[in-house]
Amino acid sequence: MQAPRHLISTDDLSLQEMEALFESARAYEQDLSGWPDVCRGRIAATLFYEPSTRTRLSFESAMLRLGGGVITAADMNVSSASKGESLADTVRVVCGYADALILRHQSEGAARLAAECSSVPVINAGDGSHEHPTQTLCDLYSLWIERGRIEGLDVVFAGDLRYSRTVHSFAYALARFRANIVCIPQPGFDLPKYVVQRLREEYGVEPMKADASRLGHLAASSDVVYLTPQKPHQLSLFTDPQGLSVGNVDAVYMTRPQTERFGADSELDETKYLQLGKRQLAAESLRDAVVMHPLPRRDEISSEIDTDPRSIYFKQAARGVPIRMAILAALLGRTDVLGSSTPGPEPSWPAQKSGLVCGNQSCICHTEDRHVGVRFRLVSRVPLRVSCPYCSQEIEFGVVGCSTTEHFHAPDSRDLRKVHPEHMVFFRDGVHAQAAGFKAARGASTPHPG
Ligand code: NCD
Repeated sequence: MQAPRHLISTDDLSLQEMEALFESARAYEQDLSGWPDVCRGRIAATLFYEPSTRTRLSFESAMLRLGGGVITAADMNVSSASKGESLADTVRVVCGYADALILRHQSEGAARLAAECSSVPVINAGDGSHEHPTQTLCDLYSLWIERGRIEGLDVVFAGDLRYSRTVHSFAYALARFRANIVCIPQPGFDLPKYVVQRLREEYGVEPMKADASRLGHLAASSDVVYLTPQKPHQLSLFTDPQGLSVGNVDAVYMTRPQTERFGADSELDETKYLQLGKRQLAAESLRDAVVMHPLPRRDEISSEIDTDPRSIYFKQAARGVPIRMAILAALLGRTDVLGSSTPGPEPSWPAQKSGLVCGNQSCICHTEDRHVGVRFRLVSRVPLRVSCPYCSQEIEFGVVGCSTTEHFHAPDSRDLRKVHPEHMVFFRDGVHAQAAGFKAARGASTPHPG
C-alpha cells in the first residue's frame, strides 16, 4: 500500500500544488454547497489538544460541505489522553476510525510524530509555536485572491513574531513564492533564530535593517527588518545608512501576543503591545495594503478599522472553508490536485550511542520519548550543524565521532564531509568522546579534563 500523503508543513507541497489548491478553493468558494459527493463516505477525525474555533470548525464545515462525515475530540482533556495515553497510541487507534486525521497539539513536532504513526493522511492544525500550514494556505489564498499574485509582494509581519506559528509557516511559504517580508516585532518578540536561519539557508532570504519612516506610527517603537529572497540581494545596491527603505506595502499581517506559550524570559506589558488603528493605517505606505490577522485578536487591531475596506480578516477567516475543502479533497485522493510524487520529509538519521539531545523543551521528542528516538537532520556540512526533524530547531553538540574510524572531529573539520550521517556519533565534548573510546583526529583539539 502506498504511504499516505500528509500536510505537516507547507514544505510538503510544491508551489504548483499550492497554486492548484488555490484554483480548486476558488471554485469551491464560488458555490460552497455545490459539492455534496466529493467526499461522500469518507470520515475526518479532528483531534484537538489545544483550544480552537476557526481551524476546527472550518475543517468540519469543509468536510460536511464535501458530503463527508466528521468525528471529533474537540477537548482531548476528556479523552484517554487524561488517562495518560500517548499521542502515538491515540493516533494509531484513531486512524482506524477515520480516513484523515486533523491534529492540533501544544508540542512542537507533534504532527510529524503523528504522521509517522498513521496509516491515513495527517493534517497539522498547529503544533506549539512551530507551524500551522493550513492557516498559511488560507493566508496565501487570501493574498492570491486580493492581489492576484504572491511573487514580489511586500508583506509586513507585526506583533509577536517569536511564538506565532502562523507567522513562521507563512514566512517560509512567502519566501518560497519570492515575496518580501518586513518584520515589525513587538520588542523582545522577534522571529526566532532558527526560523531566520532556515529562511537564510533553505530559502536564500537575506535579513536587512530597514528604514521604516514611511510606516509612520505602526513601526514607531520597533527595529524593522526587511527579509528578501530577491537576488542579487538589494543590500549590495543600496547606500542609505538608515537601511533599505520600506516602500508601498501590499499586506499587514498582525498577530496577538501568544501568552499561553511565553517562557520565563518573555515579559510583556500588554498596554504597550503594537496597535493597528486608524492612526497607524493612515501611513503613506499602507494606502493600498490589506490588513490580515489569523484571529483571534485581542487589542492589537482596533475595531474602529473593521469597516475599512482594507480590513480583510473576517473574509480571510471565511476563506478557511474553501481552502480546507481543497486540502481535504486533495489529500483524500478525491481530486488530482496533488502530483503523484510525494516529496515527504527531508531525510533524518537516528542519533544512536550519542549524546545528542534536542534542547527545545517544548518539542514532542521529550514528552513522547518512549516512541521517538533522537534523530537528526543535516543543516550544513561545514561547519557541521544538525537540527531536530520534529521541531526543526538546531541541536547543540561539541565534537563528532565517526563510528567506523573511531576518531572524533571538531564541527568545522573538513574531514566530516566524508563521514556518512549514519556513522556520526555526537558528543558534548572531547572528554566524553574519549571516555567512549574515540581518539582525537588530526586537528581536533585534545581535551583537557577538568
Ligand atoms: C492561530 C493559531 O492557533 O495559531 N489561530 C488560528 O488558527 N486561526 C493564531 C492565534 O491563536 O493567535
